[in-house]
Amino acid sequence: MEQQRDQWKSKFGFLMAAVGSAVGLGNIWGFPYKMGMNGGFAFLVIYLLLVAFVGFAVMLGELALGRKTGQGAVGAYIALSKKYTWIGYMGVASGFLILSFYSVLGGFVGKYMISFLIEMFSPGAAFGGMGSGEFFGAFINNAGGSILFHFLFMIITAVIVMGGVSGGIEKFNVVAMPALAVMLVVVIIRSVTLPGAGAGLAFMFAPNFAAFKEIGFFNVLKTAAGQMFFSLSLGMGCMITYGSYLSKKEDLEGSAFIIPISDTLMALLAGLAVMPAVFAFGMEPTGGPGLLFVTLHTVFTEGLTGFIGSLFGFIFYFLVLLAAITSAISLLEVCSTYIIDRNTSAGKSSNRKTITGILAFIIFLIGIPVCMDGLGGGNIIGANFWFGKWCFLDFYDLISEGIFMPLGAMLMSIIIGWVIKTKVIKDEAEIEGNKLKFYKFWEICFKFVVPIVMVVVLIGQLQGFGIF
Ligand code: TRP
Repeated sequence: MEQQRDQWKSKFGFLMAAVGSAVGLGNIWGFPYKMGMNGGFAFLVIYLLLVAFVGFAVMLGELALGRKTGQGAVGAYIALSKKYTWIGYMGVASGFLILSFYSVLGGFVGKYMISFLIEMFSPGAAFGGMGSGEFFGAFINNAGGSILFHFLFMIITAVIVMGGVSGGIEKFNVVAMPALAVMLVVVIIRSVTLPGAGAGLAFMFAPNFAAFKEIGFFNVLKTAAGQMFFSLSLGMGCMITYGSYLSKKEDLEGSAFIIPISDTLMALLAGLAVMPAVFAFGMEPTGGPGLLFVTLHTVFTEGLTGFIGSLFGFIFYFLVLLAAITSAISLLEVCSTYIIDRNTSAGKSSNRKTITGILAFIIFLIGIPVCMDGLGGGNIIGANFWFGKWCFLDFYDLISEGIFMPLGAMLMSIIIGWVIKTKVIKDEAEIEGNKLKFYKFWEICFKFVVPIVMVVVLIGQLQGFGIF
């Protein structure tokens, strides 16, 4: 008997899953720190333009391609033509790399959550009087602890993916996403009412393009573009995969709007939670990857104090953990769907559980070096192993977010926009009578803006690697 391919149960369920994939550490951790390092307002403006002109276009393209072919990242490209198979492989490879460091970061979040839980009942037991920076430094250098939490994070992710698309992924997201938005608003209220918080708001919203001179326009553009792709889960077949589980009745264009808008709102909320606090506590916005951890830790231990501070810290990190899990499952799903589709088309049983378990274990292994170099500080593995410039996390991130994803998006827009022609996407989106209202706008973005921006990003990226 042929197995029926799974499908999302409801429109809301699909949207929450897709928004759940998009909203994650990229928004809450990546966005504020990258904005901090790239001039605040200047970065924000470029980011918003990219979402409107590139993000929306690629989102619709991916969802439509997935639904049309009914296949995940690799299968979808094979369905277009066998010669494009490798683009799909690039996507799956990105999934492996991203998830392997994503899970380590997710583990950090889990560790913060548990620390605040402990602090609630016995103050001092988890942070032991350490300041927030000191605590963060101590624990990123504790490789054993990081590996343990990375392992736990991978197990949770794998169990949900084993549950399947509608049973596991959809159910989980419907609750977690709305709760996170509410909690972020609570943290923002505390953050913006701290004395001195105004400077953080000015950093984000007062027009200031000095960064284009100091950091360079192309550097800001490159970072913003990478961040946008990462945050919207684009360029590696994640939305192709999610689209492939979508019913033909669904309005693709509407979803392609709602997902980027919700994701961007969540990033802005995270920025509003972090930036005012950074300035209020006299920290540097350019603090880098530790920014979220160090700053918000201080909000909960000094902005709020005592039991209430620990309670809010616990709830906050719990929800961030949920957001990270909903994103991680989409990354693992890309890898699992690839093998499941391959099995099913070879007439074998899909074997979702075993496949997912094996893949999750491999990803766990790939992530171990990320736990061992103290994020570039050099712990068990020496400092910044790649030309003294990048730690493992950066390195995995550069290959995936820096190269494979922009390359994948560029090739997709060229193949669909110029070789196969955009009409395929229009036909797919309109198959059950939904009208593509922004077809012309989408087409111009997809055929012209996307490839041009991607070329610029790729050149910038290779320069960063020291290749040019
Ligand atoms: N978008 C997620 C975040 O912002 C991470 C993520 C999930 C992702 N799926 C992806 C990134 C696919 C790139 C590709 O945290």
